Amino acid sequence: MGIEFAEKIRRIPVYPVAAGYDLGVGTAMLASNETAFTPLEPVVEAAKHALLGSNRYPDPSYAPLREALCDRYRVPAERIALGAGSCDLILAAGDALLEPGAEVVYGWPAFSVYLHLAAASGARAIEVPLNGDAEHDLEAIAAEITVATRLVLVCNPNNPTSTALPLESITAFLEKVPPHVCVMLDEAYVEFSLTVGDPYASLPLLDSYPNLVILRTFSKVYGLAALRVGYGLCGSESFRTAVDQVRQPFYLTAAAQSAAVEALSHQDEVERRVVAAVAARATVTEALRGRGFWVAESDANFVWVQVAQDGNDAPIVSGLRDRGVLVRGGGALGGPGHLRVTMGTPAENQKFLDALAELLPTGPVASEQP
Ligand SMILES: Cc1ncc(COP(=O)(O)O)c(C=O)c1O
Repeated sequence: MGIEFAEKIRRIPVYPVAAGYDLGVGTAMLASNETAFTPLEPVVEAAKHALLGSNRYPDPSYAPLREALCDRYRVPAERIALGAGSCDLILAAGDALLEPGAEVVYGWPAFSVYLHLAAASGARAIEVPLNGDAEHDLEAIAAEITVATRLVLVCNPNNPTSTALPLESITAFLEKVPPHVCVMLDEAYVEFSLTVGDPYASLPLLDSYPNLVILRTFSKVYGLAALRVGYGLCGSESFRTAVDQVRQPFYLTAAAQSAAVEALSHQDEVERRVVAAVAARATVTEALRGRGFWVAESDANFVWVQVAQDGNDAPIVSGLRDRGVLVRGGGALGGPGHLRVTMGTPAENQKFLDALAELLPTGPVASEQP
């Protein structure tokens, strides 16, 4: 007889990690929405310098990073929650807010980690389908909120579908949410969004909605995915206190913190990466649409393309992999028949387009007629 685990271990889905990290140099890594740009030298130096003091635990108040974020976004330091990646804050929010009898609501498909929240806590998950343009249907989400709702997640721009809603729609939605319900606005890709405008645009909402948490990450445009740093800008201090209560005190390494502080001071580099991603998604979208594929309107550093109306994206994902291109199949992300393709270097993007043309020379796979 083996170890007897808690019941939730049978409920929690295994995160669908991208395969192929072992494929080596030359593979176009377009599966995890990272940036293709490596960290700047001063950012690496800051991390290295912090490593010299690794015999000491990191300062658990994380004051330098909190202050740097406070300077940048003018949100008081005590209303900034930090985490080992924004995933850490999503899971901590589930831990702090959910329990059997409670409900969590989100549009689906969205970021796959949201699935863990109900499974881990015993709460009920209500998944609201996206509309025909692969966007969140905020009216339908609002209609699902009940007295039992504790947490609503809105991913904007949405992973995996890349679409974003304007802030007017988000504001109208927040007006409908009762104050006891925490709304997590997951803005992991906000820097790339022309619809939202810029990373400051949503911040005034924090003054009107104390139940709002704007979730951000250093893993995407800041290029620190491997160091794991995320943050939540909160409408009230209570969220930060609660998520700190449910976690170990030293969740952020000193090297990660120093690198993040340094990365914040290189906004010209952020700008360069955004410009490259916006240009790349326009080129790739146009090329795909020109070949007859349906592609969502992307506001992120990736595109969402329908490749098989019969829902079977697996052979295309593996065919691309055989040609040295790693992407994510929609089957694992809640949108069968689609691919989520991260924008890499121009050469990598072209490699993807060429490989797809080789696999599907006549365009998307049509649905089988009964
Ligand atoms: C929408 C969204 N939120 C949060 C995250 C988590 O990012 P991290 O934990 O690296 O900060 C991701 C990562 O892919 C994401 O796509």
